[in-house]
Amino acid sequence: MTPMDYEFLRKLLKERSGLDLSADKQYLVESRLIPLARRVGLAGIAELAAKMKGGSEALTAEVVEAMTTNETFFFRDKIPFDHLRETVLPELLQARANRRSLRIWCAASSSGQEPYSIAMCLKEFASTLMGWRVEILATDLSQGVLDKSRAGVFSQFEVQRGLPIQMLVKHFTQVGELWQLNADIRAMVQHRQLNLLQDFSHLGTFDVIFCRNVLIYFDQNTKASIFDRLARVLEADGVLALGAAESVVGISDAFKPYPERRGLYSPNPARTARAGATALMQQALKAVASR
Ligand SMILES: C[S@@+](CC[C@H](N)C(=O)[O-])C[C@H]1O[C@@H](n2cnc3c(N)ncnc32)[C@H](O)[C@@H]1O
Repeated sequence: MTPMDYEFLRKLLKERSGLDLSADKQYLVESRLIPLARRVGLAGIAELAAKMKGGSEALTAEVVEAMTTNETFFFRDKIPFDHLRETVLPELLQARANRRSLRIWCAASSSGQEPYSIAMCLKEFASTLMGWRVEILATDLSQGVLDKSRAGVFSQFEVQRGLPIQMLVKHFTQVGELWQLNADIRAMVQHRQLNLLQDFSHLGTFDVIFCRNVLIYFDQNTKASIFDRLARVLEADGVLALGAAESVVGISDAFKPYPERRGLYSPNPARTARAGATALMQQALKAVASR
């Protein structure tokens, strides 16, 4: 791959998906894009880049998708799901007892192991949640992983990673060498394609947001912008869960870590109050200007 082609791809991926590739990641780009080029009948990366420069939007989308890392597994890191079951859900169920609704967003859901782990946790509260409106929204940039997630079919290897055997027996049906997630758990999760670089305020507000193991691929400014926008769609008493290697510390003051709940963050009230005051001020200024 020529340095010019690498620079072209690096810039494009940053703009389209937020992926922040350092100068020495040619091998990664080659290992993902040479097979793609061959599959679509091109000789290699030079031809691929030329076709993209010529404006092939479908090919560009395929390239962006091929460069996503979709590694995931059931109950990844365990601790956030223990917190969900033991503290977050019990507290939210109490706080929302009058409203009787709960909205959870899994913001980079990959092939479904994460949103379905959340659904299996929620299922344990089924009797309390009778008559509630409960939503789990799973979104991802990649259409390919969303299709896999919707199907809810997992290999032996996938169900062996993180899924307790009791959950496998309870919620899955073996079909040949594969495992089909039962319809009641599948029906708890809605899927939608969404790029975190783009506006997501139209999704409404959530009580819990899982945004795990995706921000690690982005630069500091992109992370800060996403944290800011996540804080605006999270309820004041809501919870944000990040991956084990991720944190808001030193990047954004939109959230603060929960003491003693590793990986969980709450919206920063000082920041929310400031944002509220600014919004009120802007409204007042608009009213004065329109007189
Ligand atoms: C490593 S997986 C993490 C999956 C899951 N959250 C977990 O922790 O197991 C990262 C996911 O982020 C998605 N992704 C990458 N860039 C994205 C973007 N700009 N907007 C939304 N999703 C993105 C990828 O397609 C991939 O499925």
